[in-house]
This record gives sequence, C-alpha cells and structure tokens, in this order.
Amino acid sequence: MRSAVVRTDRYSRGAIAFHWIIALAVLFNLGVGLFHDSLPSAWRVMPLHKAMGITILVLSLARLAWRLTHTPPPLPVATPHWVRAAAKTSHWALYALTIILPITGWMMVSNGTPPRPLDWFGLFPIPFLPVSRAASGFGHDAHEILGLAMAGLVVLHILAALRHHLLLRDSTLVRMLPILRLPSA
Ligand code: HEM
Ligand code: HEM
Repeated sequence: MRSAVVRTDRYSRGAIAFHWIIALAVLFNLGVGLFHDSLPSAWRVMPLHKAMGITILVLSLARLAWRLTHTPPPLPVATPHWVRAAAKTSHWALYALTIILPITGWMMVSNGTPPRPLDWFGLFPIPFLPVSRAASGFGHDAHEILGLAMAGLVVLHILAALRHHLLLRDSTLVRMLPILRLPSA
C-alpha cells in the first residue's frame, strides 16, 4: 500500500515537471543559439529558437510563482556552508536567466534589421515589444553575453549534480528525477 506521508526529502511532482520541461527546452535553445551559423539554413532553426524561447519565458514565470509559494526539500544537515551558498546563488541565477534571457531576445527581434516575422511554431503571431532601435540593439548585446553566461552556468550546474551523484553518492540528483525512487518513507 502506498504511504500517505508527504515526502519532504524529494522535490514535488510539480517542481520536477517544471525543472525537466524547462531544462530540455533551455538545452535545445542553447544548442541552436550557439551553433545556428553552422546548421543548414534549410532547417530554419531560428523560428523554432524564438518560439521555444517565448515558451520558456511563460513557463519560467509560472515556475517562479510556483517556487515562491512552495518550499523545496531541505539540504542534508551536514551540507557545508559554502555548498549551500553556491547552490542558492546558482539556482536563483538560473531562475533569473530563464526569464531575462528570453526577454532580451524578444527585445532584439522587436525592432531588428531586417525585420522578421515572430510566431509561435507557425500557429499564431507573437506581438513585438514596443522598443526603440537602441533598446533592440541593447537586447542583442545582452542576449549574446547572457546566453554565454547561461551556457557556462548550466555546465557548472550539471557538473555539480554529477559530483553529488557519482562522487559524493548522495540523493541530490535522484530527488530531482521523476523515475528513480528514494527508499520508502
Ligand atoms: C531561454 C531562452 C533562450 C536561450 C537559452 C537563448 C540562447 C541563445 C544563444 C546562446 C544565442 C547565441 C548568442 C551568440 O551569438 O553568442 C542566441 C542567439 C539568438 N537568439 Fe536566443 N535564446 C533564448 C531565447 C530567445 C528568444 C525568446 C528570442 C526571440 C524571440 C531569441 C532570438 C535569438 C536570435 C535572433 C539570435 C541570433 C542572434 C545573432 O546571431 O546575432 N532567443 N540565443
Ligand atoms: C539546462 C537547464 C537547467 C536549468 C535552467 C536548471 C535549473 C535549476 C534550478 C533553478 C534548480 C533549483 C530548484 C529549486 O530548489 O528551487 C535546479 C535544481 C536541480 N537541478 Fe537543474 N537545471 C537545468 C538542468 C539540469 C540538468 C541537466 C541536471 C542533471 C544533470 C540538473 C539537476 C538538478 C538537480 C539535481 C537539482 C536539485 C538540486 C538540489 O536538490 O539542491 N539540472 N535546477
């Protein structure tokens, strides 16, 4: 029989779903953003990148609202102070980037040259932001810098998760996975 006890040692299903849906979309967009010049132009990846980016923005705003109203599971008591600080800082930086990075991309294409259509996977048009040419240029510069910063932070985040799982052999990764179960409460 399943236990009715609420588990406080793993992330909730909602948090896990938000994490992995957004993580896959971000990995796709980082890959497309960084390598779009080397991909065949016939693949027309940038319309996908833009639609995916706007989807990430909407999902991340919903995720932030979720996070501010739900408490994540506590870290193990023995976690050193510097690890707690590093995890907290990098997690909030990731939340911020999943919102600010797509906004800078949206600003960039809203008054860019040449003007290009913006739609959601070809299904309906997405409105442009009312920004000046200068603000669009700022969005372009910020998108490139923050895009590289996010790629670096995601690499560190993945290395940290693997360090916990493979070297420290604790439950940090497993408690964010939908399939692998922790021992029953
Ligand atoms: C979280 C979502 C997003 C991520 C992770 C992301 C990431 C990136 C990265 C890493 C680049 C390459 C930057 C460089 O040249 O070094 C890029 C380029 C680009 N992104 Fe995004 N992006 C996102 C959302 C968006 C959105 C919402 C739009 C527009 C609606 C957009 C439009 C573009 C365009 C047009 C480029 C090409 C810029 C150029 O080649 O000059 N991106 N993106
Ligand atoms: C690529 C985009 C990704 C983004 C934007 C992202 C973002 C985040 C954020 C914001 C949190 C904090 C959740 C919270 O406590 O509020 C988190 C936790 C976590 N992420 Fe990611 N993540 C990404 C990819 C990954 C990948 C690929 C892995 C695994 C290899 C991973 C493993 C984890 C784990 C294990 C935690 C829980 C850490 C803990 O318990 O303290 N993430 N992630």
